[in-house]
Amino acid sequence: MPYYRVRGGNRICGKTAIGGGKNAALPILAALVLTTGQTTLHNVPHIADIHLSIDILRHLGCRAELNDHTLTVTNDGITTSTLPADLVTKMRSSILFMGAMLGATGTVTIANPGGCQIGSRPIDLHLKGLRQMGATIEDDGTQMHATAPEGLTGTPIYLREASVGATENLILAAATAKGETTIVNAAREPEIVDLAHFLNACGANIQGAGTTTITITGVKTLSGTTHRIMPDRIVTGTFLLAAAMTGGDVTFTGVNPTDVRPITAPLRAMGCDISEKPATLRLRAPRLLTAQHLVTEVHPGFPTDMQAPFVAALATAKGTSIIEERIFESRAAHATELIRMGANIRLTSDERTFIIKGRASLNATETTARDLRGGAALILAALAARGTSTIHDPGYVARGYEKIEEALTRLGGEVTFFP
Ligand code: EPZ
Repeated sequence: MPYYRVRGGNRICGKTAIGGGKNAALPILAALVLTTGQTTLHNVPHIADIHLSIDILRHLGCRAELNDHTLTVTNDGITTSTLPADLVTKMRSSILFMGAMLGATGTVTIANPGGCQIGSRPIDLHLKGLRQMGATIEDDGTQMHATAPEGLTGTPIYLREASVGATENLILAAATAKGETTIVNAAREPEIVDLAHFLNACGANIQGAGTTTITITGVKTLSGTTHRIMPDRIVTGTFLLAAAMTGGDVTFTGVNPTDVRPITAPLRAMGCDISEKPATLRLRAPRLLTAQHLVTEVHPGFPTDMQAPFVAALATAKGTSIIEERIFESRAAHATELIRMGANIRLTSDERTFIIKGRASLNATETTARDLRGGAALILAALAARGTSTIHDPGYVARGYEKIEEALTRLGGEVTFFP
C-alpha cells in the first residue's frame, strides 16, 4: 500500500513557484462544456481531481490534451447528457457540471455526488437555484435527471449560505440563460473571481464576482479563450506553515499576496515575519510560534481548508490555542492522528472546536490520512517532529497537492512517496 515517509527536524527553506489552484481550475474545467471551439488553460495543476475532470470532459465529447501544465480543450459539441457515474462519485465537485450542462444542452443526468469525510455536503442550494431558473430536477436516490427544455431563465437568487460551489454552479447556469440572474449572498472566494474572468474572456457578461452580489446577463454563445489559472491559495498557505513550524525561511513566487491575506494575517500574529512583493511572498519563522484563537469563515475570513494545517502548527506553538470550525460539521479526523503524534488537543463534544495546548515538539509515528487537508496537516506535523514518520492513504493528499513530496524536499524537507 502507498505511503509517505517523512524524516522530521529539517528547516523548510528556499524559493519555489506555487502552481495553479485546484479550486480555481475545477469550475473552469466544468465551464468548458459551455464554450465552443478551443480553449488553452495555463498553470493547470497535475492532481487527481483535475485528471478526473478531464476524463469527464472527454466522456462528454471534448478533445483534451494536458502537456506539462497547459491544457488544451476543444469542444465541437457535447455528445451525451449523461455524466459517467464512476467518475462523478469519486469527486464531489463534479456537481459543477450540472449547471454548465443545463446551460449548454438543457439536459443532464448526474450521479449524486454524496458527502465525504468532512460533512454531509448537501447540494440543496445548487438545486434550489437551478429550479428557480426553470430546471426540472428528479432524483431517484442514486442519480439526478435535470432538464430545461425551454432553456434556463435568469432570475434573482438568494443563497441561504454563501456556498462556493452553489455560487459557481449558478454562474455557470446563468452565463447563457435568457435574461439576467442576480445571486445575492454569493460567496466571495478569489476562485469565483477567476471563474468570472475566464467566462467573461469567453464572451460572458458577469459583474460583481468577489462581492456578495453577482449579476450575470445571459449571452447566446461562449467561445474558447486562453486563460492562466490563478495560484493555489491553500497550497501557498500549507507551504508557508511548513516553514513556520520548522523555523524556516521561504520565498514563494507566482502567488497573489492579497488573496492569501486571510492566511498570512494569523501567521504574522503567530510571530512570522512576512514580506510581500508583487506575486511574491517571503516568510521567516520565529523560534517558537505564538498561540492563536481562529474561527473558520467564508472568504475573506480564515479559510476552512487551512483549519487542519493550522491545528498541526499550533500544536507546536507556545501557549493554548482555540480553533473553531464553523463551515463543515465534521472536519476533525486529523485530531486523533495528531494526538497520536503527541499533540495535546481537546475537542468539544460537537467536534467543531479544537483546544490545542502547545508543546515544544511532536513525536514521529505511523499515521493515516483521512481526508485531503487533514493528510496535509499530518505531513506538516511530521516535518516538525523528531524522527521518521509514515503517513498511509496518501491518495487523499495527492488530490490537492501536486507531488508534495518533491516540493517539500526541494525546500529542505525529507519527504518520500512510496507507491
Ligand atoms: C468548496 O467546497 C471547496 N471545494 C472546498 O475545498 C472548501 O472547503 C469549501 O468550498 C469552502 O470554502 C472546491 O472548490 C472544489 P460550500 P463546496 O458549498 O463548494 C453548506 C478542499 O479541501 N452547503 O462553500 O462544497 C456546506 O455543507 C475542499 O479543497 C449547503 O448547506 O463548499 C458547508 O457547510 C474541501 N448546501 C457550507 O455550505 C449546499 O447546497 C460551505 O460549503 C451547498 C453547501
